[in-house]
Amino acid sequence: MIKIQRQVILAPYTTLKIGGPARYFTVVKNLRELKESISWAKENKKEIFILGGGSNILLAKPWPGLVIKNEITGSEIIKETKKSVWYQAYSGENWQKFVEDSVRRHLYGLENLASIYGSVGAAPVQNIGAYGAELKDVFVSLEALNLKTGRSKIFKASDCHFAYRDSVFKKSLRGKYFIYRVTVKLSKEPRLNLSYGGIKEILLAKKIKTPTPKQIALAVTELRASKLPIPAILPNAGSFFKNPEVSEKEFKKLQKRWPEIKFFSGSKPNLIKIPAAWLIEQAGFKGRRYGAVGMYEKQALILVNYGGASAAQVLAQIKRVIKGVKTRFGLTLEPEVNIIPPLK
Ligand code: EPU
Repeated sequence: MIKIQRQVILAPYTTLKIGGPARYFTVVKNLRELKESISWAKENKKEIFILGGGSNILLAKPWPGLVIKNEITGSEIIKETKKSVWYQAYSGENWQKFVEDSVRRHLYGLENLASIYGSVGAAPVQNIGAYGAELKDVFVSLEALNLKTGRSKIFKASDCHFAYRDSVFKKSLRGKYFIYRVTVKLSKEPRLNLSYGGIKEILLAKKIKTPTPKQIALAVTELRASKLPIPAILPNAGSFFKNPEVSEKEFKKLQKRWPEIKFFSGSKPNLIKIPAAWLIEQAGFKGRRYGAVGMYEKQALILVNYGGASAAQVLAQIKRVIKGVKTRFGLTLEPEVNIIPPLK
């Protein structure tokens, strides 16, 4: 029997430490409890909100329906060939633990995604990425339950419409499915991607020539620790905005005006990605505090709650930063964090 609690403050379940209350709240630890919760919501006509690791959300209003806290954990190898391993994890599993388990087994594929906060189930929703790798590079399929009918469905990679920090689960299927388990295909042989953001330099400094997945994961962890605040110490939700992408033509114009502008190749051949952190820093927000909120002093893309910030203060900061960057560069930043209800 599931236990439905009432008026539960959600702030402690989020890494920004903001949000709530949920009118109804339940924790599920297995498929049976999940199905019971979906039935309860249907019978009582309550809308469901799924809470995973709480690391990429800003709950700006009380949730009038049922919040399901996903604690369905565990992972297992479901298929193996000479070169590859199909590794499946339940969606409530901690992402960092999943990556640690995979590198401990000497499997390549998840090492660049080490040290990211959140749950396995959230990974496909926003196609998590870091250091030149994205979940979609190793993704095979996922099983999800329809929140209206409780029926299960398999989504292959092509069904998920993965893009930069995006998928069908953020678009047309937003709020419609509970992702139950995710399968990735990992490699037993080295498949290295060390070109991005200083991984190579760390390995070189340690005189590591042929790195194991674990050594790469450790280098990534070290890099992240040097610039990203630990949510348990300084509440935050990782990158708050997406890096905007512009056409080459538009980029040339920007570069003419700001020759020092930073850029990377975009998600499509004719697109250039500009680091939002650079834009935010240039617009003067880096390290500047507005009451209990501000953009982090070591990485301007991270919005930090310095203690006791309200959702309204965070929303005001988001608007301030969007406006500041727009005024200076004419570019519109889009939040990467899932804001509920969405920004108007
Ligand atoms: N930069 C600045 N000022 C800053 C920070 C960075 O000008 O305060 C410039 C630097 O030129 C730097 C560039 O921005 O080279 C990029 O910075 P960084 O390598 O830190 O990465 P990012 O583009 O800000 C993205 C992801 C991160 C991911 C890192 C590393 C997005 C929205 N964010 O950040 O993902 O960890 O790359 O690969 O794409 C997350 O999604 O929560 C997240 C942390």
